[in-house]
Order: sequence, then structure tokens, then C-alpha cells
Amino acid sequence: MAQPQPFPADESALDAILNWTRDRIVNGPDPRNGAQSQAVLEAALGNAITPGGINGMRAFELFTNSIIPSTRPFNHPTSLAFVAAAPTPASLAFDAALGAAEIFAGNWDGGSGAIHAENQALSWLASLAGWPSSAGGAFVSGGTLGNLSALHAARAAWTKDRPDRWRILCSSEAHSSIAAVARVMDAELVLVEADAYGRMSADAARCAMVDGVFAIVGNAGATNCGAVDDLEGLATLAQEQDIWLHVDGAYGLAALACPETRKVFKGIERADSFIVDPHKWLFAPYDSCALVYRDPIKGARAHGQQGVYLDTLDHTAWNPSDYALQLTRRARGLPLWFSLVTYGTQAYEQAIAKTVQIASDLAREIDAAPNLELLLGPQLTVVLFKAANMKGSELADWCEVQRRSGALLCLPTKWHGEEVLRLCIVNPETNTDHVMKVLRTLN
Ligand SMILES: Cc1ncc(COP(=O)(O)O)c(C=O)c1O
Repeated sequence: MAQPQPFPADESALDAILNWTRDRIVNGPDPRNGAQSQAVLEAALGNAITPGGINGMRAFELFTNSIIPSTRPFNHPTSLAFVAAAPTPASLAFDAALGAAEIFAGNWDGGSGAIHAENQALSWLASLAGWPSSAGGAFVSGGTLGNLSALHAARAAWTKDRPDRWRILCSSEAHSSIAAVARVMDAELVLVEADAYGRMSADAARCAMVDGVFAIVGNAGATNCGAVDDLEGLATLAQEQDIWLHVDGAYGLAALACPETRKVFKGIERADSFIVDPHKWLFAPYDSCALVYRDPIKGARAHGQQGVYLDTLDHTAWNPSDYALQLTRRARGLPLWFSLVTYGTQAYEQAIAKTVQIASDLAREIDAAPNLELLLGPQLTVVLFKAANMKGSELADWCEVQRRSGALLCLPTKWHGEEVLRLCIVNPETNTDHVMKVLRTLN
């Protein structure tokens, strides 16, 4: 008698999952969803894992009825806090297929076709930055890992005497991941005070320069304020000091896709590495970060894993695990590639231009609104402003009411020590009239 299969396929559950996936891609998330307390979640999911299983349909209902409503709908066009997301329908649909394809893309042997296509997407980004066709790298899970991998390569490329202390120089507006990376690398941060717009100038960086700095990190779209540092001046400084220039463009470098906005990154063509997260403003799903080295050999010298069971692999082939701190990986750059191939690069150019236009329209209308005070921006697509008559807990309550009703996700941040409101537009479907209607209630 045939033994029962431990994991039989359940066609009805499969249909339910595929139908839900289709519906979600077509109709998007419910903007009213959001975090629940652990007690609520435990009540809903506490007995989910049982010795006998509860079958696929019921398991999937836990997902649709309890898990999904307690997650933030970042890709809804009313989601304007943090750096949200706006994956294209093609990238989302393809991502579901990619999951089913179960490609091992850690090395060429496992995923050559996928890696070749991912590399085309990396080459597109490198060419937008004005880099040679020899540039390359790998997709990693996010900007934090991209920054760590790049900065490890930067230190490995150091050819002078080992300093007493390793140091990374960056702006006071650098993303928190740079401080996290410095901690992991046991390096010290040399923080350079940004100017009134949040930019680090090359002069300020030069004044702050000390022994042991092995890399300068330039912002290409600081998260809090959208600032782009003086990349041209920083490239000259890095050259003078014979050190590495890494550009953190996790959010902002998406704007390379549009000739108008590309200009603000002048100097990037002289950097040694950059990152950009397609899951932020390049219309791809979670999670992916494009990590690109001008000279990929420097990346490979720093990374890669050796082990007897890996000896059968072709180490002369392009193995993404040679360029970052990773081995097993999904081909997480492929949804970007698929979407680029589907829509063409002009659609990306238009989508970036449209989000920039939306940010500029919002800034203009905020400036004109009597209950609001424009403070900064737009820088790329970040706008900082204040409500003239509301702050503290009253403002926090307003933000929570808007979020819970699904009207708008707009949250406070700090700017020059003061509590302010922040918008960051990455979704070309953001509706300016709707956003302004909500912001006018800040009274
Ligand atoms: C400028 C910048 N760098 C790095 C990161 C970290 O990226 P991730 O969240 O993908 O790790 C972010 C995230 O918001 C960012 O905005």
C-alpha cells in the first residue's frame, strides 16, 4: 500500500492563494490595515501550529483574515511616511512566479539565467550613473546589507599601513544603517554637520577628515530630508585621500532613471560603489537592494565564501555571493528586471518625473495653505512642513486618526530639533487633491 505523502498538494488551497494574489495585485491593499497588539494576534493565531495541521484553506484564512489586516499597506497611494513602496503590477505578479520557480541564485551554477538577467538590471543602473560596462555587483536584501557589503569592500581595498582606528566619514544626515554598519565593523563614525538643507559639503568633510578614514559615505537622497551631498566635491576629496567613496542612494538614486533629476547626482560617476533599493522608489517589491561596484574585483576580493563542498563550483563565473555578505539568495533583482523589460525604461523615467511633480505640487500647496508652514523641499520627493496650530499629542492623535481611517499615512519627524511633519512621495498614483484635503484638517 502506498505510504501517505507528508505534504500532499491541496488544489483548492492553491486556487485560493492564486486567486487572492491576483485580486491583491489588481486591487491593492486596504489602507486601513495596520499593526495590532500581540494579545490580539495571539488570540487569532495562537493555536495555529498543531500536530495534525489545519489544512491549507484554513491556514490561508488565517493569513487573509488575521495576518494581512495587521500589516501596514505601504504600497497604498495614501502611504506617504517613511519611504513607502509602489511596486508595479508586473513586478508583483512576477514576484509570485519567482517564488514558485525556487531558483537558487547564490551562484552561477544554480541560477545562471536569473543572474544574467539581474546583471542586466545592474548594468542599466550603472550606465545611468555614467559608469563603465565593467561595473557590476549583486542584489542583496536591503540597503543596510548593501551598505555593509560596500563598506567592507572599501576597507579591504585599503593599501596603506593599518591605522590605529578604522573610521567612516559621513553626514549627520546619513541613514541609521551607516551607524549600524560602523558598529558591526568596529569602526568609528566621523560625523560631518550637514548644512541647512541637510547636505554635506566637501569643504566640511575636508575639515573633519582624520587618520583612519577608509571611506566617505555620500548621501544621494537622505531619508529624512531628501538631501543630496556634494558628490562631486566628495569624489575629489576621496581621490586626494586615496580612499573609497560609497554613495548611499537606497531611496534617492532611483531618480537616476530620469534625465532631469539625474543631474543632481553629478559626481556619482567618480564613486567606487553605490546602492539603490528598487523596493523604495524603483517600483519593485520587497526586498531588494542593488549594490554596484565600479570595479567588481574589489568587491570579490572582500567577499565570497570558501568551503570544500563549494569546490565543485566554477569560481570564475559570476557568483552573486562573491560580491556581498550572502550565500543562499533568491533572485531578488529579477522583479525589477521583469518590470523594466515589460514597461521599458521610458515608463520609469515618466514615473520618477511624475512623483517629483507631485512632491513639487504638494510643497507649493502646503506653502499656500494658511494652516501649514513649508519648511523644506521638495528635495527629491521629500517635503517637511509644520501645522501652524497643532503639535505634540494633538498632532500624534491626528496622524493616528488619519492612518486608521485609511485617509493618509503622514507621520512626524524631527528637523533641527523641532517636531515637523514629513511626506515622501514614491507612488505615482498619489493624489495631490486628496492629500491636501486631508492636510487642511490640521487645524
Ligand atoms: C538612505 C537609506 N540608506 C539605507 C537604508 C536602509 O535600507 P533597508 O531598509 O533596505 O535596509 C534606507 C532605508 O530607509 C535609506 O533610506
